[in-house]
Parts: sequence; structure tokens; C-alpha cells
Amino acid sequence: MAFQYHIHIMTLFPDVVGDMLCESILGRAQERDIIRIDCHQIRDYTLNKQKQVDDYPYGGGHGAVMQADPLYQCWKHICDEMGKRVHTIYLSPAGHVFRQADAKRLQREYDSLILVCGHYEGVDERFIQECVDEEISLGDFVLTGGEIPAMAVADAVCRLVPGVLSDPECFIEESHWDGLLECPQYSRPEVWHDKRVPPILLSGHHANIAKWRRKQAILRTRDRRPDMYEKLDLSSKADQKLLKEISAEEAEHSEE
Ligand SMILES: C[S@@+](CC[C@H](N)C(=O)[O-])C[C@H]1O[C@@H](n2cnc3c(N)ncnc32)[C@H](O)[C@@H]1O
Repeated sequence: MAFQYHIHIMTLFPDVVGDMLCESILGRAQERDIIRIDCHQIRDYTLNKQKQVDDYPYGGGHGAVMQADPLYQCWKHICDEMGKRVHTIYLSPAGHVFRQADAKRLQREYDSLILVCGHYEGVDERFIQECVDEEISLGDFVLTGGEIPAMAVADAVCRLVPGVLSDPECFIEESHWDGLLECPQYSRPEVWHDKRVPPILLSGHHANIAKWRRKQAILRTRDRRPDMYEKLDLSSKADQKLLKEISAEEAEHSEE
């Protein structure tokens, strides 16, 4: 079966990870054979009876390190089955921080990935040198294992595979697609806890709604993420008009 995208996750907790990624949108995409996510138990590739995958760190220190060989055997098994060396990512706090641009690149440039989840104090560097093409971090913090980052990467990449979401506009209009944060969203009822939905959204005037949404997205990005705002290209006539409106509205409010 040729899936459009195939992700392999090497982990000590395949059931938990597999269950999570079988739910909702990704679950339905797997049922429809658009994508496939296989979770591999690293312990199945050990040669010892106890299925031990870790050992003490050379040089001393606390904790344990995941040994290179069980990881290598698991990785090799996947590559042999796939008939090729598969782009391999080790989830690591020492990797480059994952962004939407990486999700787009991974979806565009590959049709399969191996995501390696570390545990304990991390994995033997020699496995990384031999098998890993890229190290990705979920952010500047340390988790107990690579499972949550692997699920985040798998989810962000898979939802970009054509057919996984019902409509490409679903992600094109979302935060981070083109450097903007998304505008605020509302659903029924029209009034909740005395808070009204902005009247423009009830007007049925599509052009005005689109303009309002763009303006809100620009404002939200400016106020919450000045680093992103700095990089925005707002030179179009339409955006320049919106910026003028924003300045005029803010001037009016400051006079009140
Ligand atoms: C406790 S961490 C090891 C941290 C490592 N000793 C260090 O200081 O860089 C165990 C595993 O969790 C995963 N992990 C922890 N934080 C992560 C992050 N921010 N991004 C991606 N993976 C992370 C990695 O797979 C790592 O091997």
C-alpha cells in the first residue's frame, strides 16, 4: 500500500503514542490510507533477556543513557522494510527549534520519516552520528522523553498532507502559515456571559469580514509577537489602508 506519507516512531511507549495518533483527524486519515503512523518498540531490538535498552554513562554521572545498538537495530529494521534510508529525526532539546516552516519542509521534501524518541539522559552520540539526519527540539525546556515532541512533529506534518484536512484553506488561514497569527474565532451562541460576537461576523458581508479578520490578525501579531510582526510584508495597498485605519482607530481611542 502506497501511503502519501509514512511516519515511523521509535519509542519505549508505542501503545500510548499509537493510541494518541489514531484519534480524530489523523485517525481518520490513517483509516483512509492517506497516511500511516507505525510505532516501534525499541526494546524488541535488544539481545538481552531483560530487554534492557539503557546503561550507565561513561565518565560517570547520574542517570542512564540509551544504548546505540537497540536503537540501531530498530532503525535498520525500518529502513530495510522501507527499502531505503529514511530521513531520520532525533527529538532532542539540543536540536533546532521546530517551526511551521519545518513542518512544511518535511511534508514537501520527504514521503517518510523516522522519529526517534529518547529517554533517561538521552541517547548514545554514536547512534546520532550514524543514523540521524536532523535533531529537532520542541522548545527551550526539557521533557522526560521524546514522545510528546514526536507526536507534535507527526501531527504538524501529517495535517499538511493533501487529503488529511478537508480543505487546504484550513491551514492556509491559520497562525504561522504566512507569518501572521490568526484572528480571534467565535461560535454559537451570539451572546455568552454578556459577551457579544463582533457584529461584523454576523453581517454576512464576506469582503468586510475578510478585511476585519486580516486587521485582527495584524493587530494580534503586532501586540503578541513583535518578532514576527517585524518580518511581515504589509506593503500592499490593502494592508497599507488597514494600517491607516488601525492608527486612526487607536488615535481616537487614546483621546477618549
Ligand atoms: C531528559 S531528556 C534528556 C536531556 C539531555 N540530557 C539534555 O540535557 O539535553 C530525555 C529525552 O527527552 C526528549 N526531550 C526532552 N526535551 C525535549 C525537547 N525540548 N525537545 C525534543 N525532545 C526532548 C529527548 O528525546 C531526550 O532524549
